[in-house]
Amino acid sequence: MLYHILAVGDVVMEPGLRHLERHLRPLQKWKAIDFTVVNGENAAGVGLTRDQAERIYDAGADVVTLGNHAFGKSQIADFLEDAPWLLRPANYTGRAPGRGCGVYDLGGVRIRVLNLIGRCDLSWGADNPFTAADRNLERGQAELTVVDFHAEATSEKLAMGYYLDGRVSALWGTHTHVPTADERVCPRGTGYITDLGMTGSIESVLGIDPRQSVEGFLGGLPGRYRAPEGPAKLQGAIFTLDSATGLCTAVERIDVR
Ligand code: FE2
Repeated sequence: MLYHILAVGDVVMEPGLRHLERHLRPLQKWKAIDFTVVNGENAAGVGLTRDQAERIYDAGADVVTLGNHAFGKSQIADFLEDAPWLLRPANYTGRAPGRGCGVYDLGGVRIRVLNLIGRCDLSWGADNPFTAADRNLERGQAELTVVDFHAEATSEKLAMGYYLDGRVSALWGTHTHVPTADERVCPRGTGYITDLGMTGSIESVLGIDPRQSVEGFLGGLPGRYRAPEGPAKLQGAIFTLDSATGLCTAVERIDVR
């Protein structure tokens, strides 16, 4: 049986949250989506609050993934323990609260969702994401497995795509907020895209006010992140997965404005 899995790129601040709340359910209906994973680690700019996590869930996400800003709002720590649908990268070391991998019911089949963080230019003391993937794929039973690899370097994401090709149903990159035009089914059957893009203000630098970003590059004080008002976009990809093989048959990029 075929399942349509929607992956949504990083939701940035209030414009991203509002756009998600307005467009996610109509998109799910239009594309007959069975399961939705949304990266929410920038809902507060840096991190997210419990209220923002619940807004993403209530908007239609089945699982919310995080990344380098997972603990940007430290009050999320307790909620990470309580909400099985909220994942932080599995390769955070030691005593980080919460979990990075879950298995969810998909109406007769099980789908495993794994959240990983890269280490190139993201020095957060994480374990090796490649060996962490091996360990987590041995846990539990699931017909389908999807991976959100939150990473900076295209090389690290592409290498992970080849490393897990044929072993997971789909793998997408998040974090860089700019969609890549390389969606495809890999040689051994894993659906892949290097980066989904983002959900937030169109006229922005990765969701943030361009004036603020330019000021930072000119050497000024960055200050608190501000998200500009104005039109927004929802970017991501839809993976068509076959529960008989556990692999992918098609990938489609999404950009809803
Ligand atoms: Fe990030």
